[in-house]
Amino acid sequence: MARMLVEVIRQMGINDPRLLAAVAATPRDRFVPPRSAARAERDEPIPIGHGQPTSQPSLVAQMIDALVLTGTDTVLEIGTGYGYQTALLAHLADRVYSVERYADLAEHARENLAAMGITNVEVVVGDGTAGLPEHAPFDAVVVSAAAAAVPAPLAEQLAEGGRLVMPIAAGVADLVTLFSKRHGRLEKRRSLTPAQFVPLVGKHV
Ligand SMILES: C[S@@+](CC[C@H](N)C(=O)[O-])C[C@H]1O[C@@H](n2cnc3c(N)ncnc32)[C@H](O)[C@@H]1O
Repeated sequence: MARMLVEVIRQMGINDPRLLAAVAATPRDRFVPPRSAARAERDEPIPIGHGQPTSQPSLVAQMIDALVLTGTDTVLEIGTGYGYQTALLAHLADRVYSVERYADLAEHARENLAAMGITNVEVVVGDGTAGLPEHAPFDAVVVSAAAAAVPAPLAEQLAEGGRLVMPIAAGVADLVTLFSKRHGRLEKRRSLTPAQFVPLVGKHV
């Protein structure tokens, strides 16, 4: 099943062998509600409850690719959902902290990740716009919901030289944007792609 998604992602021009191997090793049907398992091989979003989707795998891959993970990174993910992106990050980083605002989604993600034998992830229930100061600084931050600007705590908790990817609300579409931190300031690097994300809901938006 994952082989078809690997091919879609490769055809988008993503060639990082570690990322392609992570996609190959992550059966997406284990990260969607059972009623949607048969659709999991399609490169499309799938509803996971509370009006939230799990993003389409090619978009997830684009966002992760831009983080340029080396295997030694500590990563903060905001918006765990069912844990598909979290599983890919876990393959590519040393440690992943993931924050989800819905407790039942976080619990599904924990179960899904445990079933895959993934142990270098901590899923936290809470408002991800505040980040996780107790585990900062982060080498990379990925936000899976859109807001007009990067929440200030996430910029603060990013390590010097770190990368942050987030959809920035821009009228009809969101623009998935790569930032990096230089001289203590968050700087925009480039827009990756237009997309439609659910809103980031929290105190710091
Ligand atoms: C597009 S979905 C998650 C996709 C997920 N990364 C995946 O790979 O399937 C966005 C998620 O962000 C969560 N979310 C929105 N605002 C949040 C916040 N402030 N803190 C934590 N999670 C939040 C939603 O509940 C939802 O599960």
